[in-house]
Amino acid sequence: MFEAALTSLKARHLYRTLRTIASGQNATITLHGRACRNFGSNNYLGLADHPEVKAAAVEAVMTYGVGAGASRLITGTMPPHEQCEAALAAFTGAEAALLLGGGYAANVGLIPALMESTGGPDGVLFADRYNHASLVDGCRLSRAGFKIYRHKDLEQLDRLLARTPPRAPKLIVTDGVFSMDGDLAPLPGLLALARRYDALLFVDDAHGTGVMGHTGRGTCEHFGLPHDDRLIHMGTLSKALGGFGAFVAGPASLIAYVQNRCRSFLYTTAPPPALAAAATAALAIIDREPERRAALWRHRARCAEALSRMGYDLMGSETPILPVRIGDPATALAVADGLLARRCFAPAIRPPTVPTGTDRLRLSLMATHTTDDIDALIDALREAGRRHHLIPS
Ligand SMILES: Cc1ncc(COP(=O)(O)O)c(C=O)c1O
Repeated sequence: MFEAALTSLKARHLYRTLRTIASGQNATITLHGRACRNFGSNNYLGLADHPEVKAAAVEAVMTYGVGAGASRLITGTMPPHEQCEAALAAFTGAEAALLLGGGYAANVGLIPALMESTGGPDGVLFADRYNHASLVDGCRLSRAGFKIYRHKDLEQLDRLLARTPPRAPKLIVTDGVFSMDGDLAPLPGLLALARRYDALLFVDDAHGTGVMGHTGRGTCEHFGLPHDDRLIHMGTLSKALGGFGAFVAGPASLIAYVQNRCRSFLYTTAPPPALAAAATAALAIIDREPERRAALWRHRARCAEALSRMGYDLMGSETPILPVRIGDPATALAVADGLLARRCFAPAIRPPTVPTGTDRLRLSLMATHTTDDIDALIDALREAGRRHHLIPS
């Protein structure tokens, strides 16, 4: 029944399959029965397998069981959820925070709810062209007018905002760290535009949380953004925090509103209490062990410097997400296979995840990599790049 579609995907080198990692999500994983250096995980700080994070989850399972049994507003709210929300509010410096079941679920629920809060049918969304798919889907679901501006193009956004009726409710939506490009949204400029045009600014900091900023608070901290009630901070527990789930942080009135109107909060079972407990433990480690973030950034500098010197295009990355531009899906897969032969795993990213012609390897680095790991990756990319004529010999 689906053969024609599958055959077409295969012919275009766009077919995907699952691979099983038979180990924890560490810097070294077990893939196809072999130990392999892992450059594909968003477990940036190595907390997914941290003993304290695991112990917190196990203790919560033993105390509260596995499932939450109902949605948060019915009987699903337990002490680990409340403790985690208090920790997230303190971490982000917001008045309040709310857990949601995952980053995707958060975005497809929050954006429509925020647009609905404006009360009228004439609200307009403004979205960066490279926003994550979950933000795109949230914008689509909201059924509001939806304008896309070129990647990070503040001038175009300014023009689009200026052309929108002044009284129309407006929401600017952006990744903090762009997930496939590893570059940063121009948050100071976006906030200035939000103020000028009386818009809200929604920042999805899935990849900034724990990674960006002097104390890991995220991309807003990186830019030293002042507190502003029009800024809505969403983040995930699934990347640097090493678990699963998401949060939104902001004024208490925002959180109360989301509790009442966000469909992906209301109509789903509460996150397992163990995941909330694990995230609370991860937040404490982020505060206590800044050396993790320092190691991550050291690895990033070493790797980016070597690959740029070799002649690779790192596509403007500013973070531990390092895209290596390849340009077509078949070569991207061949380079990934070449790396795997040298026991380095890095995923080939192809359309529709990224625009056609920008196929890439997406390297993501971890605090728990060693310098040897980074050097092995650099060597493997040198060999593969020369074989495929991506870099000079
Ligand atoms: C920017 C961004 N937002 C949201 C998500 C979705 O988060 P989750 O994996 O928790 O559903 C991801 C990645 O998964 C992401 O990269």
